[in-house]
Amino acid sequence: MPDTLTTNSPVIAAYRAATPGSAVQAQRAAGLFPSGITHDARYIEPYGLYITRAKGPRKWDVDGRSYVDYFGGHGAMLLGHCHPQVMAAVHAQLDRGTHYGASHELEIEWAERVKALIPSAERVRFTSSGTEATLMAVRLARAFSGKTKLIRFNYHFHGWHDHMTSGHTNHFDGTATTGVLDAVAGNVLLCDQNDEAALARLFEQHNDIAAAIIEPTGANGGKLPIDPNFLHALRRLTAEHGVLLIFDEVVNGFRVAPGGAQEAYGIRPDLTTLAKILAGGLPGGAVTGRKDILDLLDFQVTKSAGKEKIAHPGTFNANPLSAAAGIATLRIVRDSDACARANQFGEDLRRRLNEVFEEEKVPWAAYGTFSSLELFTNPERAAITPTRFDPLEHSFASLKGDRNAGIVHKMRLAMMINGVDLSSHPGGVISASHGEAELEDTVSAMRNTVRMLRAEGEL
Ligand SMILES: Cc1ncc(COP(=O)(O)O)c(C=O)c1O
Repeated sequence: MPDTLTTNSPVIAAYRAATPGSAVQAQRAAGLFPSGITHDARYIEPYGLYITRAKGPRKWDVDGRSYVDYFGGHGAMLLGHCHPQVMAAVHAQLDRGTHYGASHELEIEWAERVKALIPSAERVRFTSSGTEATLMAVRLARAFSGKTKLIRFNYHFHGWHDHMTSGHTNHFDGTATTGVLDAVAGNVLLCDQNDEAALARLFEQHNDIAAAIIEPTGANGGKLPIDPNFLHALRRLTAEHGVLLIFDEVVNGFRVAPGGAQEAYGIRPDLTTLAKILAGGLPGGAVTGRKDILDLLDFQVTKSAGKEKIAHPGTFNANPLSAAAGIATLRIVRDSDACARANQFGEDLRRRLNEVFEEEKVPWAAYGTFSSLELFTNPERAAITPTRFDPLEHSFASLKGDRNAGIVHKMRLAMMINGVDLSSHPGGVISASHGEAELEDTVSAMRNTVRMLRAEGEL
């Protein structure tokens, strides 16, 4: 990212002029948080937006400006912001208490809904986040199999605990990232997604693999799309080698289809991790899957089998507020076409943006699957036709767009000036509340953006 304090950019100047209230808040935050932020994905120079409220597909900043929202609560808000039924459930629960330090009926209904929707869910264990869910899934897999190694795929994200750091944005050689033990990183085997031969080699070379974990629509929620044939090969090879398969459906669960990617692709993993939509916009996660594996959390089963139980406390596991929001959300996911509507908007938006790129003669492309939007900014200036773009023909490094960080940065700022908040991919997640007005606003914001970038000499 360029040093925006020294860059003389009309786009950056226009962003500063449009967002003076956010600049004031960012100044306060700078003295409190590292980089002034509370989640790495919110880092943007000169500063990010400060939001005061959100409704449906839009949010408003401290200066009163409105944005079409493609952050979608980092993927949690499938139904859009402040869905009336979810809000009513949360308000009602607030008056009944937020933490009982005891079991309650809501956690039962929440888990029943998970079980009814997710095909492989035989048992459920709630956590407070997706990171905790993948942490528990790996521990379960190791304890169940008695083996140590974990296969992960380059660029895939599974939260920030120690097993999930190398090979996400750096350390693709498998070495430990700073602060992580070599012994932990050394038990992670990194592999490229969509490379069946490389995967098969890992199984030939190692006989101590406990599990493989994957984002089943591809790295970073589909920034690097998966070839469905690879997913089927992964299931076949893991089963053949007695290795557990973990689908990390923290993003996909209840999004790509009511039953997640496992329903969409017809593949049954051994364990599944969930979060985000699961808890309807409040904190929450879960690990779910085969009973015989989750039995390692069961007091009686482990005792009678003479096995050591995996301990699992967690102050906010299945807290009543998250349970209320989760139940209301999963009810709507089951009873409505929310997933299908978000997916349809995704298809329409990608098509319309590609038409803009062709009309404006910009060698970029919009792509993605289901309700994801990904933007390709073509760092190698490859000859492409946006409306016929196939991401699988391009390298991971090229799709990630890191080499185009400067232009991606200005594109995001220009989109914000034009009333659209894209995520850092760049791209975004779509909600079922995005409609015709948001489609038109996003398309015209992109047209203005490419013209601004062209005027600035970036295109
Ligand atoms: C696929 C995936 N797994 C795990 C996580 C971690 O979830 P959380 O942020 O709730 O810890 C994320 C978060 O974005 C994710 O996208």
